[in-house]
Amino acid sequence: MTDTAPAKRLYIKTYGCQMNVYDSERMADVLRPLGYGVTDDPEWADLVVLNTCHIREKATEKVYSELGQIKLMKSRKAAGGGTMTIAVAGCVAQAEGEEIMRRQPAVDLVVGPQAYHQLPELIARAHRSTGERLSADFAADDKFDALPRDRHVTGVTAFLTVQEGCDKFCTFCVVPYTRGGEWSRPADDVVAEARVLAAKGVREVTLLGQNVNAYDGCEGGLADLARQLAKIDGIDRIRYTTSHPRDMDEALIAAHGEVPELMPFLHLPVQSGSDRILKAMNRAHTAESYVRLIEKIRAARPDIALSGDFIVGFPGERDSDFEATLNLVREVGYASAFSFKYSRRPGTPASAMPGQVATQVMDERLQRLNALLQEQQEAFNRSVVGRTEPVLIEKLGRNPGQIGGRSPWLQPVHIEGPERLIGQIVPVRLDGATRNSLSGSLVLETV
Ligand code: SAH
Ligand code: SF4
Ligand code: F3S
Repeated sequence: MTDTAPAKRLYIKTYGCQMNVYDSERMADVLRPLGYGVTDDPEWADLVVLNTCHIREKATEKVYSELGQIKLMKSRKAAGGGTMTIAVAGCVAQAEGEEIMRRQPAVDLVVGPQAYHQLPELIARAHRSTGERLSADFAADDKFDALPRDRHVTGVTAFLTVQEGCDKFCTFCVVPYTRGGEWSRPADDVVAEARVLAAKGVREVTLLGQNVNAYDGCEGGLADLARQLAKIDGIDRIRYTTSHPRDMDEALIAAHGEVPELMPFLHLPVQSGSDRILKAMNRAHTAESYVRLIEKIRAARPDIALSGDFIVGFPGERDSDFEATLNLVREVGYASAFSFKYSRRPGTPASAMPGQVATQVMDERLQRLNALLQEQQEAFNRSVVGRTEPVLIEKLGRNPGQIGGRSPWLQPVHIEGPERLIGQIVPVRLDGATRNSLSGSLVLETV
């Protein structure tokens, strides 16, 4: 997102999950009335916001190295008589608070994920006296009430946060500490925001939450919300992420078979295939219960594609536990997946567990798991070749004359075709597959 000729330049860098992407867009919405327009070049920015992620050690460290670079830009700008305000937002801001300003004094303000609606005030205060450090402890409902109703929209797909926080306390994870307890936006609010998006040309919404399927902002939960959104003119595709297996209820499973707008793709992280490790992770499901759940979902929507998250090297993970993960992957068959080396996060129960796994062992396991997951992803992509499927055209392609879109299963599709098709869902014959994408051609009647 880049605005043309704004009075003040705002550079936002986003780390972490899609919820941060949504939050970054909303921060820009909050700041736009103050004359800030988004730029993709930090060098001359008046305000730099790093919207940070705390999930793994590397994510956190990246923030500090980026801050080092931004500090130099701030000094260069100051040497020329200009000013730059540096704000750290997101989950590192929540977790580390003022510590960030001790480590990097160039930072002017720190704002947690539930407080960014206060940015205008915080910036004004930071300009009056340097070193305003605020502030974390608001509830999510304060924020959503205060955010502008209008949204700046740049494409035909959009994220829409419907749920925040986590009560699950997986023993490896910082999210319950950085995002607070589970909270759902009232369905009416969500529907109103989706209407704004639809009026601006959005055809696909991805509903976001750390535990999105725990959504309880209306009586019928996420299934009911999806049914309400499906009725909005213009909203033709609905996705949601991330789900926890334990909140995947009958109603939501049934909706997958009944609501055509619900896309046949589900990100349902399992983390491990070993029951011993799952127990130590406090995941509240077993490998077996997860597989039974997948069977139920596939019975409701046979073509559903699955995606997941995996952690290798959780404390105490033996070779046999890791083999159980590989077996589970073979049994389920994933269309895509993310896999991570366990990262020891201060303050989480797992960080104090015995049996921390050596990096080299984690590397080997990750490599083997990735090889299997990549093989499955490529096989999945190949399995749709030869079919004609609806593709939502999202943007111009990389090469002239090309356009790009997504299949119902979230696969990127590259097509030769005219720009005017952007925003339309058109039938595309899928001609070829690589590990990461498909190539296709428009079927005649659309051209
Ligand atoms: N709420 C979601 C995702 C949260 S974070 C869920 O429950 O699935 C996204 C992913 O990061 C997690 O699914 C997990 O696989 C990974 N992750 C979280 N903490 C981690 C840690 N300490 N080390 C390595 N990976 C981690
Ligand atoms: Fe973290 Fe577990 Fe909550 Fe997901 S469900 S955010 S992995 S604690
Ligand atoms: Fe990272 Fe916070 Fe998302 S820790 S993964 S940005 S909820």
